[in-house]
Parts: sequence; structure tokens; C-alpha cells
Amino acid sequence: MSRSAHPAGPRHADVFPDGHYSAPAADLNVLDEKVWSRTVRRNDDGVATVAGIEVTRLAEEFGTPAYFLDEADFRARCRAWSDAFGPNADVFYAGKAFLSRAVVRWLTEEGLNLDVCSGGELATALAGGMPPERIAFHGNNKSTEEIERAVSVGVGRIVLDSFQEIVRVAHIAQRLGRRQPVQIRVTVGVEAHTHEFIATAHEDQKFGIALADGQAAEAVRRALELDGIELIGIHSHIGSQIFDMAGFEVSARRVVQLLAEIRDEHGVELPEIDLGGGLGIAYTSEDDPKEPYDIAKSLLEIVTRECDAARLTTPRISVEPGRAIVGPTAFTLYEVGTIKPLEGLRTYVSVDGGMSDNIRTALYNADYSVALVSRRSDAEPMLSRVVGKHCESGDIVVRDAYLPADLAPGDLIAVPATGAYCRSMASNYNHALRPPVVAVRDGEARVVVRRETEEDLLRLDIG
Ligand code: LLP
Repeated sequence: MSRSAHPAGPRHADVFPDGHYSAPAADLNVLDEKVWSRTVRRNDDGVATVAGIEVTRLAEEFGTPAYFLDEADFRARCRAWSDAFGPNADVFYAGKAFLSRAVVRWLTEEGLNLDVCSGGELATALAGGMPPERIAFHGNNKSTEEIERAVSVGVGRIVLDSFQEIVRVAHIAQRLGRRQPVQIRVTVGVEAHTHEFIATAHEDQKFGIALADGQAAEAVRRALELDGIELIGIHSHIGSQIFDMAGFEVSARRVVQLLAEIRDEHGVELPEIDLGGGLGIAYTSEDDPKEPYDIAKSLLEIVTRECDAARLTTPRISVEPGRAIVGPTAFTLYEVGTIKPLEGLRTYVSVDGGMSDNIRTALYNADYSVALVSRRSDAEPMLSRVVGKHCESGDIVVRDAYLPADLAPGDLIAVPATGAYCRSMASNYNHALRPPVVAVRDGEARVVVRRETEEDLLRLDIG
């Protein structure tokens, strides 16, 4: 809404100029457990702590901006997902959400598998010690080198995304003397209710092979004829940050239908289906994500029911949550810099990071929460927009939020639920140095991805 729409100038905190957010929480000091990682609290002095460590201490030791990753929470979420799906299903963590060697170690120890979608992610998975047979390799345009590496290290599955790739993977595997297990990724024609850029199962986009016009059945025909590959299943991923299970149900039903058609045509029952990732998390107190147990229950039930109806043996099911595991486990800590109250609009609070450490707000219009964490404040709520330090007016971290009116330069504020797609999508725009990721657990903090330095930047610039 423009300034002229409110010539008299609305007073902050009593209008919501963008119309999509609500009144301030009754007490801005409360850290809602829905959006903060499990071990985050506010201590008696009013300072937020994670794993028992004060954020003020963390800022002193590691600087700002920085991502703090709650290891206990991460491990608990891994366990919740694998317990929910049980021994007859597999959980593949989607590494694109955030990947580092430490994370790979935690996943390996917690018994999860790993979905990678590039040579770089594969290299990190291997360097972190993930057994290759627990790795799934994705991507709509895998290079020859990537396929060769994936096949030669023996990844558990390659998910094929096009007709060309079926042939390429088969030829490469044959040349390397391997028979590579593969799945075919199909697009089931579901319109997921999420941002257009992260919806992937409608037909007009780059991923997968369409079910609707018989393309997927044709891809299966070709895959079954080739010696270098062993078709073990069908894959579907409908999008990301989804709360409604209806899309998954339709997708599961259509994939099972394809399995029945494959059985009828070829006399083969494929042993696996993968229903992808995409389960939403709470970025603000208004989001209500489902628990892994409920997600697993509804997916397992629908697949079993559809298989029974088609007289198919229920295949082994896998899922690929990324955001739902790592998203809620981290927050970004920033130091407040300049503060600009714009009369009648809102107060712009600048922090020492921005779109280079969190592009999601600019890219998807994503909502985030924010809180003053270095002290308690009982000042009035102030309608705020948290912005970064980049040369771009769209450099917004939190579009609409309330912060206490006595906020001052030097205060620390934190944005929760930044574990997924923030560090992994971070950039060097304006030659920003990408922040470190610090793992915290039981009173101890350890850098797992260090802060970039100017030397790192200049090392790439060969003059
Ligand atoms: N499996 C496949 C094949 C995928 O393409 C993805 C995400 C996942 C699993 C994991 O989805 P998740 O559970 O994390 O939603 N950058 C966007 C998200 C892009 C997701 C791409 N694929 C964002 O920041 O929201």
C-alpha cells in the first residue's frame, strides 16, 4: 500500500499495510516453541540461550551474522521421521536444504539416507562418510561426470528425470560394468498449494516425465529394456512447503496406479515408490505443520489401501524431507545497525546480513519471525521491517514483524527457522562473506562451516 493511500499516516502497530499479518503477540519476549528450535529458551536475565549457551556469548565468540544449528533438535527430528515411517520405509534427507560433513555424520549415525542433486552434494555426502548405497542421486540435467561418479561409487539409486537420461545412465553403467538401480521421476499432474517456483508436479515445468499422456509408461518400457539399469521404482515430488496432505494422496494414488499398469503390461511389480519431500514447517506462529507421525500414517495408509485395491504387494516407501528436518533447527543471529522510523509506515531495522544469507523473502515472498534476543524489553511493539545491508531495496529479511520500540543499534535479533535453504542458497552478492554455521549441543558450540573471508573471495579472483 502506498503512502498516499493513508495521507494522514497510520500509526505503527495499529494497521497492517501489507494486509497479510496479524497483531503483535501479547508479549514480544516469548519465544514461541513452534518456530524456535527445541533447546532455545530465554534465561532469567532475559537473554535467549540455545543448548544452554547465551546468544550474547555466541555473538562474541563467532560474530554476526551467523547460523546456529541445534544438533539435539536435528537428531531428534531425524529420529521422529524414521520412527514414524518404521522399518518398512526409508527416509532420505534432502541435502539441498543444508548439507555439511557434520550433518552427513549425524544423518549416518541416526540411520537416515541422503538425497543429493549435484556432484558437489555427492562429494560432501561421501566426504562426510555416508555409505554410497544409502545415497539417492537426483537432478534434471546430470552431467556425464556426475553420472559416472555416482555409478562408480555405487549410489543406491539414481532418479532418472528424462528420456535422454534413461539411455545415458544405462550406457555409462554398462561401460563401467555396473547395473545401476534407478527410479523414474514422474510428474503426477498435481497443483501443489505453494509458491509457483517451488511447485513441481504440475505439467508445465522442467522436472520429471508426465504420467498423463502415457510418457511415463513409455519411459518404463525403455528402462526395462536396457541392461545397464535396474528399474526399482517410481518417484514423485510435488513441491515444497506444503501443509495439505491432499496433493500427496493424489500423487500416491497415481503412482500406485502406474505400478499396477506396469504389472499388467510387463508382469513386473516394482519394489519401491518414493513420494518425495515438501512437508511444510512453521515460519511464523500462524503456521501449523503436521507431525511426522501423522504424515507417515496418512501416506502409508493410502499406499497400502491403493495397493490392496490393485492387488499389488505394497512396495517399500521412501520420502525425502529436507526443510522439515533441518528448517526448524537453526536460527540466524544478526546485530542491529541503523534504525529508520518512517512516519506512518513502519520502522526499517537494518542488520549486518540480508539477502545474501536469506534470499527466501526476496525470492518467494516468504514470511519469517524475528525477536530481540540479547535482552528482555517491555517497550511497546513497533511495526518493523528487518532489512539487510545490500544495495537493493528488495533486500528484506523479515517483511512484517513487531520488535520492541526501544530497539537500539548493537542489540542482537534472531530469525528462527532458517536451517533450510538459507545457508545453502547464500550468495556473495556485494561481496558479502557468507556466514558460518555453528553447531550447538549440550553447552558447547562448534563451527561446522566457517565464515568466509576476504581471502576466500580473492582466491577465486585470479586477476
Ligand atoms: N526431493 C526432491 C526431489 C526435491 O526436489 C526436493 C526439493 C526435496 C526432496 C526436498 O523438499 P523439502 O522437504 O525440503 O521441501 N529453495 C526452495 C525449496 C526448493 C526445493 C527444491 N526441491 C525454498 O527455499 O523454499
